[in-house]
This record gives sequence, C-alpha cells and structure tokens, in this order.
Amino acid sequence: MSAETLVCRAGIEGGDSAFDDREARRISRASYRMLRLVTDLLDVARIGYGRLSIDKKPSDLNLLLEDVRDAFTPVAHAKSISLDVNSNVGSETVLLDSDRTYQVLANLLANAIKFTLTGGHVEVEAHRDDDELQLSVRDTGPGIAESERSAIFERFHQLPNQASGGHGLGLYICRAVVDAHDGRIWVDSVLGRGSVFHVVLPVG
Ligand SMILES: Nc1ncnc2c1ncn2[C@@H]1O[C@H](COP(=O)(O)OP(=O)(O)O)[C@@H](O)[C@H]1O
Ligand SMILES: [Mg+2]
Repeated sequence: MSAETLVCRAGIEGGDSAFDDREARRISRASYRMLRLVTDLLDVARIGYGRLSIDKKPSDLNLLLEDVRDAFTPVAHAKSISLDVNSNVGSETVLLDSDRTYQVLANLLANAIKFTLTGGHVEVEAHRDDDELQLSVRDTGPGIAESERSAIFERFHQLPNQASGGHGLGLYICRAVVDAHDGRIWVDSVLGRGSVFHVVLPVG
C-alpha cells in the first residue's frame, strides 16, 4: 500500500491505531532501506571517480563502539542472536574518520546478523596496539568458501543461495573505506561454523 493510500484510508476510516502503527513502521523500514541504497550508490560513484575521501579527526573509540552496540543490540535480539562488544581501546582519542569507521563496522555487523541463524552469536572485538586499531566481527553463520573470500569484496558480488535482501555493495564500500585509511580488511572462515571479518587501521 502506498503512503498516499495509507493517508486516504486513515482519513476515511478514522483511527485504527494498531493498523497505523504497523504501517508507519513498514513505511519507516522501506524509507530506511531506500536511503541506504541511495547512500551506497553515491559511495560507489565516489569510489569509481576516486573521490571517496576520508576526514581523519581525533575520535573517541569507546563512543564509536557504544554507538555500534546501541544500534545493533535490538537488531540482534530480534533474531535471538547474542551480541557482545569487547574492547581494550583505552580512553585516549585516536586519529581516524569515525563516521566512515562506523559505516564499516555497521556493514560487517549487519551482514553477521543477517547471515547468522536465529540463536547464534556475534562478537565485535576492538584492540588498540600503539598506532594500529584492530577490529573484528565474528559470527556463527554459514561461513564463506575459500574460493569466494576475495570475490565478496567485489562490487555486486553475492553468494548464491543466500537470500540477503541487499545489493552486494556493503563489503565493496568497506574495502574502499579501509583502503582510504591505508588499512587492511580480510575474512577468515570455516564453512558451516562461521566467519571473522578483520579490519586493521593505522590510527597514528
Ligand atoms: N558474515 C557473513 N557470512 C556469510 N556470508 C557473508 C557474510 N558477509 C557477507 N557475506 C556474503 O558476501 C556477500 C556480499 O556482502 P555485501 O557486500 O555486504 O552485500 P549484501 O549484504 O548486500 O548481500 C553477501 O551477499 C554474502 O553472500
Ligand atoms: Mg551487506
């Protein structure tokens, strides 16, 4: 049902608040997905033109991890997946683009939760070692075959037989953001057991 139809129905039929709430949530989810797609497509265009810039600033890693935890705990719990965020990053600020780093973590976490079955476990770890920040996102999902582990970072690449609801752009953008930081990103995985995505960023 379109937004216009919804407004008309609400006007004609008067308040059915359960119906309104459900439809409002549905419209809000659809708008969010559309916004994500537009933002991802813009990023893909920027990458294509060599224009994906990053803006390194003193950043509070604990705040960044808290934001990630707050945003994704409800998403994980809605699928009965437990989510842990462990960190030893300390309280000093470090130099990085925190919005872009959030984007990387959010993409990896969204995948981990999306591809892990109900009842599974997802874990984020953050370690700071001098001028290097190491991040990892571990899941108990289906795993990724060795032959696919570099291809999944290509534009539009999605594994067959995996209903994702996405467009295969998330990991491509993650890799570009990490490259722009002169960092590294890769995945370790055991088929049938799960995957661990690793990101290493220089933060000096
Ligand atoms: N944690 C994961 N476990 C298993 N497969 C994954 C995981 N993350 C990514 N993949 C695979 O890599 C593909 C590309 O991921 P991504 O670029 O984020 O695209 P999307 O999430 O839109 O499908 C996914 O479609 C999926 O096949
Ligand atoms: Mg994705």
